[in-house]
Amino acid sequence: MKTAAEIRDEIESLSAIPTLPTVLTDVLKLIDREDVSVNQIGDFISEDQALSARVLKMVNSPIYGFPGRISSINQALMLIGLGVLKGMLTGVAIFDVMQKTMVGLWEHSIGAAAAARIIAQKAGIKEVEEASVAGLIHDLGKVALGVCYPAEFGQCVERARAEQKYIFDLERDIMGVSHAEAGSWLARKWNFPRQLVEAVAYHHKPRLAKEAKKLAATVHLADALIKMTGFGFGGDPFVHPVDEEAWALLGLSDDDVKDILLELEDSISGTVLSF
Ligand SMILES: [Fe+2]
Ligand SMILES: [Fe+2]
Repeated sequence: MKTAAEIRDEIESLSAIPTLPTVLTDVLKLIDREDVSVNQIGDFISEDQALSARVLKMVNSPIYGFPGRISSINQALMLIGLGVLKGMLTGVAIFDVMQKTMVGLWEHSIGAAAAARIIAQKAGIKEVEEASVAGLIHDLGKVALGVCYPAEFGQCVERARAEQKYIFDLERDIMGVSHAEAGSWLARKWNFPRQLVEAVAYHHKPRLAKEAKKLAATVHLADALIKMTGFGFGGDPFVHPVDEEAWALLGLSDDDVKDILLELEDSISGTVLSF
């Protein structure tokens, strides 16, 4: 078996292989440059019509719930900010790879984005869009593992179904790393905001989060709720129990959760899935 350090190296070099559209890596590099204005970034993204159309479709979808129509990338940027845009771009840019990695993973991801947004609103978290993007990319590591280690990852998916086990545990057994770790390595490598890196890293163990405990708790609950609705498929044969500490941190009542589920059903039923 490869060591975790070897796997980390291979996953971090994913940005260099053609599975990710070069436009994404170019945008991510541009965002990290200090001498570039927000407008220049907006203009650069707007030049790629496929990518900007997807971003606009996404911000205008019920997943984000912005009132009114957002018609330009620059307008979207003003509303959601660069850090969140980075996550959203990644989400929409890996849409095709996601679909190939696991049938239903894209639906699971946008469903988790919708759930995280609704939870954040109910729990009084100010950074609603950040929560939503964290939901969108929380399983980014599944794509990374699926692309780097298709045979091993395929075995995890298959055994989760056949043996009724969590895919997270099988990844650790078979590869020695989980998709949560793999996803956080990529997110860190791509200089995502620290909060997002932590939310990805700890979405299965939110109590281990350091600075982003509430965000990790939100994504953790969103992941469980979207599994409960049966919308999409993230590889697990059943819904995971919600971590007690995360639950307490969010301060939601049973009635709140009922409301969240109703709103979630509403928001995903109105969602056009083809991005
Ligand atoms: Fe996960
Ligand atoms: Fe998930």
